Amino acid sequence: MKKNIQLLDDFVYAVISRKTKQLAEQGQDFLEKEDILSRFLVEKEKPYSGIDNKYLRDIILNFMIAGRDTTAGTLSWFFYMMCKHPHVQDKIAREVQTAIKMQEDERKVKIDDFGDYLTEEAINDMQYLHAALTETLRLYPAVPLDPKYCFSDDTLPDGSDVNKGDQVFYQPYPMGRMKYLWGDDAEIFRPERWLNSDGIFVPESPFKFPAFQAGPRICLGKEFAYRQMKIMAATLLYFFVFQLWDSSRDVKSRAMSTLQIEGGLHLCALHR
Ligand code: HEM
Repeated sequence: MKKNIQLLDDFVYAVISRKTKQLAEQGQDFLEKEDILSRFLVEKEKPYSGIDNKYLRDIILNFMIAGRDTTAGTLSWFFYMMCKHPHVQDKIAREVQTAIKMQEDERKVKIDDFGDYLTEEAINDMQYLHAALTETLRLYPAVPLDPKYCFSDDTLPDGSDVNKGDQVFYQPYPMGRMKYLWGDDAEIFRPERWLNSDGIFVPESPFKFPAFQAGPRICLGKEFAYRQMKIMAATLLYFFVFQLWDSSRDVKSRAMSTLQIEGGLHLCALHR
């Protein structure tokens, strides 16, 4: 544990000192706009800011923890769903082809150059992909249960008492599978449930679908996460068809603070 904390600290403190140096060399006007750490570094210089390097370490770790395994894990479950539902996989590949508006003679584009076609408009047009990622999060929420600690004695809206120091969990995993909330096909992966008759994504209340939490402390990176996942999924599904390496084996989840696939997801990627 001590060794691992040291590893994390070394990495994060190196990021902070690199940025601090850059800030001194390039000036704050340029960097302030560039990333969140630079903004904190600019704040730190102000009198009485109360920000020190340990505080910055915690901010950076918070973003890494919040933003990395959540998105990566969701993409693993998404590709698992793609293998289990090949017709959905094909439908997304077709949607990507239409959304990127590529000319016939550009179809042989290399994967490294594909990002040029993923414009803001193209990503927004991928409504079915958006629905499939959301449907993945309904069944496999990256944060399957989320603890809250009671700050002071209170009464919940249903009349239950909670006392200072009590721990209460809200649980996106079982909530995503409740027939009471989602209907008789609650256990079925069906992206269409998120689309209206024009094929446009219709969000649910975050209190019914709390994969990103709800209320004032809802995930700060939600839109960013969708964008990242859509770019990754669209690129891979444009070029490849995915199948499970061993289709006789169902994957198992690993109980951690985020919902991971036990042993990772082993896939075959075939050229589309
Ligand atoms: C599929 C992807 C993601 C899921 C499912 C997800 C889910 C969540 C959840 C459930 C929380 C609430 C945690 C709590 O307070 O108990 C949260 C908070 C947060 N998330 Fe995400 N997250 C995702 C991606 C990201 C990304 C990519 C970033 C940043 C780059 C991010 C940044 C944050 C931050 C900063 C908070 C804390 C917000 C606050 O306390 O006010 N998340 N996220």
